[in-house]
Amino acid sequence: MGKIIKVLKGTKDILPQDVTMWHFVEDCARKVFNSYGFNEIRTPIIEVTELFSRGVGDTTDIVNKEMYTFEKSDRSITLRPENTAGVVRSYIENGMSRLSSPVKLWYKGPMFRYERPQAGRQRQFHQVGVEMFGISQPSADAEVILTAVDFLKSVGLNDLEVEINSLGCPKCRAEFKEKLKNVIRPYLNDLCEDCQTRFDKNPLRLLDCKVEECQKIYAKPEIQTVIHSDFLCEECKNHYDELKKYLDNLKIKYSENKLLVRGLDYYTRTVFEIKSNNLGSQNAVCGGGRYDGLVEQLGGEHTPAVGFAMGMERLISLIPEIKNELLDGYIVSNSTAEAFLLAQELRNKGLNVELDLANKKFTKQLEKASKVAKYALILGEDEISQNKISVKNLKTGEQTTVNRAEILNYIN
Ligand code: HAM
Repeated sequence: MGKIIKVLKGTKDILPQDVTMWHFVEDCARKVFNSYGFNEIRTPIIEVTELFSRGVGDTTDIVNKEMYTFEKSDRSITLRPENTAGVVRSYIENGMSRLSSPVKLWYKGPMFRYERPQAGRQRQFHQVGVEMFGISQPSADAEVILTAVDFLKSVGLNDLEVEINSLGCPKCRAEFKEKLKNVIRPYLNDLCEDCQTRFDKNPLRLLDCKVEECQKIYAKPEIQTVIHSDFLCEECKNHYDELKKYLDNLKIKYSENKLLVRGLDYYTRTVFEIKSNNLGSQNAVCGGGRYDGLVEQLGGEHTPAVGFAMGMERLISLIPEIKNELLDGYIVSNSTAEAFLLAQELRNKGLNVELDLANKKFTKQLEKASKVAKYALILGEDEISQNKISVKNLKTGEQTTVNRAEILNYIN
């Protein structure tokens, strides 16, 4: 026997007994997103690496440390670590700016990040998400957050926590970054290695460092004063205030978190996350925000945009288990040939049916039926000769014989 080959670290099989949950979540996504006018888009899992270095940002952990990148025919190719950049590429490449605004797209599929695997964090994971292009007003941010909350409700999650923040526009944020650097500079040598790099390249990311020593430094009063200062310019402040009014009006409960800076570089103004206390340290089910500069940055016309993505594994771990559907019928017969014909007849009528393929004894076939189906469809010699079927309800034990032509009515 050869050595057993195992699944790669940080990846998982989604087994048949779990697939019902995935279908449920995907069906809810399709229904809710369609009801808001989002259309599904499917973009490739591989893209040119530059899309992410320019799109997600080459100072981010995602691009610096976590991408699966390889060379093929002299091109650098990357397995997508997220899908906003890919959707933006497709929006530009397919001339979607010519479509009537807003353009609303949704997607689902696998993403790849080379992170340290732990509960709620995998190297291949799945996201569902939406992106809306063309609207700069905060009503779009509100609708995107509402879509996320409604989708979560539709899968039975009513009490998750919505956190929001505004990162301002490049102009007011630049001033804020300078102020932040000025108060943190005296402690630079005491910061962790990552923060020392972030200090120059991406100072906002200092705020969500998880290292205790860094957190202690950022808790100092003079630094906290800057973090909690009102740095937004008037336009950004109005945008943020209006968003909050919309959320209040929609009765969406939220809290403001000044430390919410997100791990991707493309955000402007609104950022948000939806969290659950039942998820441990990887507690964000959903992350999103506005990215008004990204379309232009990737070669398109200036186009405001906002969206979110949710981790499907994290989402599914919060939903109570759904049992797999039973088959409608399992055919119990000593004649495989006749059972085949009946199975085809019923499948053509829309029923889910299986038959015994191994010439098992009648009692064994009945045992199997009781495990996998709602009805045992018994096709003995008498039934075959009389064109009838004996139907046993496997829940109640009730058994009756019906004409073959009436089986569909009987089961339904
Ligand atoms: P993100 O925050 O990087 O945002 O990911 C969104 C969600 O994907 C997270 O909240 C989490 O639930 C899930 N997730 C991320 N990494 C992992 C992982 N390694 N294992 C399991 N789940 C994970 C984005 O990806 C942005 N593209 C969201 C967006 C769309 N912003 C605007 N539009």
